[in-house]
Amino acid sequence: MTVSKALVLSLSISVLGACAQSATPAATSSAEPAREPARFPDGWRLPAGASSTFASQAIAVSNSPSASAAAAEIMKAGGNAVDAAVALGFALAVTWPEAGNIGGGGYSIVHMADGRTAAIDYREVAPLAATRNMYLDANGKVTDRSIEGHLASGVPGAVAGLSMLLEKYGTMSLSRVMQPAITLAREGFVIDTALAGSMSRAATTVSRNSPVTPYFPNGKALPAGARLVQPDLARTLQAIADNGAKAFYEGWIADSLVAEQRRGGGVITRADLKAYTPVPRTAIASTYRGYRLLAMPPSSSGGVTMTEALNILEQYSTVPAYGSTRWFHLVGSAFQRAFIDRNSKLGDPAFVKVPMEQLTSKAYAKTLAATINDTRVTSTKALEPMMQQPVREPEHTTHYAVVDKSGNAVSTTTTLNNSWGSGVWVRGAGFMLNDEMDDFAVQPGTANMYGLVQGEANAIQPGKRMLSAMSPTIVLDKTGRVFLVVGAAGGPTIITGTTQVILNVIDHHMSLADAMRAPRVHHQALPDSLTYEDGGIRPAVLDSLTKMGYSMRKLRALVNINAIMRVKNGWEGVPEPRRSGGAVGY
Ligand code: DON
Repeated sequence: MTVSKALVLSLSISVLGACAQSATPAATSSAEPAREPARFPDGWRLPAGASSTFASQAIAVSNSPSASAAAAEIMKAGGNAVDAAVALGFALAVTWPEAGNIGGGGYSIVHMADGRTAAIDYREVAPLAATRNMYLDANGKVTDRSIEGHLASGVPGAVAGLSMLLEKYGTMSLSRVMQPAITLAREGFVIDTALAGSMSRAATTVSRNSPVTPYFPNGKALPAGARLVQPDLARTLQAIADNGAKAFYEGWIADSLVAEQRRGGGVITRADLKAYTPVPRTAIASTYRGYRLLAMPPSSSGGVTMTEALNILEQYSTVPAYGSTRWFHLVGSAFQRAFIDRNSKLGDPAFVKVPMEQLTSKAYAKTLAATINDTRVTSTKALEPMMQQPVREPEHTTHYAVVDKSGNAVSTTTTLNNSWGSGVWVRGAGFMLNDEMDDFAVQPGTANMYGLVQGEANAIQPGKRMLSAMSPTIVLDKTGRVFLVVGAAGGPTIITGTTQVILNVIDHHMSLADAMRAPRVHHQALPDSLTYEDGGIRPAVLDSLTKMGYSMRKLRALVNINAIMRVKNGWEGVPEPRRSGGAVGY
């Protein structure tokens, strides 16, 4: 299994699209402390003090400038943030096919200015014919069929989820909000360097599984500057726009998907598609130093794990200086403990009992904080037995964020899992299928593609949702208004990266531009190491952490985050500085 494949997030530096005016870091509203200049290690490649996109009314941020522009266009035409987010979601399926999708799934957190809050779960589910050991060979060894090829896909949830979102909280029709996506697919758009890079990295895998696609004519990726036209996808989107989500799950699109599955040994049937339903859930509402967080509950692990880590960190009344040895130690130790619980106790709540109350409680966090030794690392092996006590109580991606002029906000993360999913493109219907089945513990106790070692709670069962790390989050300020809309792509690093942007703006009072550029750190319990970004740690700090017993691991870049923050008189939007994207507002 190619364990390191997705851990190393490749880089293609940002090509920003049409933007609203640029802003230097601004002071926030009077309820907020002033933003303070950040200090990063000498030579860090993303210097502090950069500007970001400012919008006085509404803004959308995503990994695709033209998809962000589609959202802004909908809001200018009178749509709210939900209308715009749904427009953006469908547009991403056209302009960011490595992760934007209709053949995958995701999660959205919504906060409406009138106080309503929603958490919509449209994660894929295991097909009805799925079995616990379906990815093991005759010798019980894990194969790569949960990652590549037709068998790797869960039943897609994106179309049903986006439609539900629009129906419940939007103001426009599906056909209106899908118009920008349909036009982008039908008339095409110019491939930028970020998409060209993504396409060239995926050419071999996708062509191996789907010899005929619009992306790779004759097996070769289209170059930057070429026009990508997707007539099959345009037809599919038009059918959904005309007839609703049913067209995807029951009509000719469903037939194409099932025919594609049959061609390559996949097991998704018409019955699977017909049975798919998104689940409205209650957002996890937690607090961190007076701010209120709205985060995604299981089937994603994102909200529970973030909440647990933040609750542990809140036990410390003094915040360590950003980037200091103590900061790395406390932040890493909090993530380590939260991931031990995540990896063993979380799964689809329809199948396993998740001890939500305990895991998200401040009292439990206090007991975990007490296990952090001030001067030494604690090994995951030593912690695990302490944390497996019976519980008292009766688990390639892209993130986008949208806010409108009324203060409604949507935070959505959506994925095909790997970049370009399973590599399978549905002939006739024009979209990529996910490889989400690898997010299950395909063999409990064995590491998956992201090195996550997970347990029985996340074993494969028919109709079950595979545990996710996606963490779409909305943070409210002390007066209850939307303050921060944030989330990420990057497997388990989604949780730690999203948490750090929250910490950077709340604990360290950074501007959003700095909070996004700040070097990041990651711990997921197993492998038992602290991962840092190349150049993102001072040599003396690295030395101290090694002496404390940490196994330190260096990666070029961690996490692909997109975020919006409230600033004085408007919003600041920042797409991931390590990758590509666009913030478009007005
Ligand atoms: O749901 C999850 O946790 C994973 N499928 C996310 C994968 C991911 O973020 C890949 N991206 N860069």
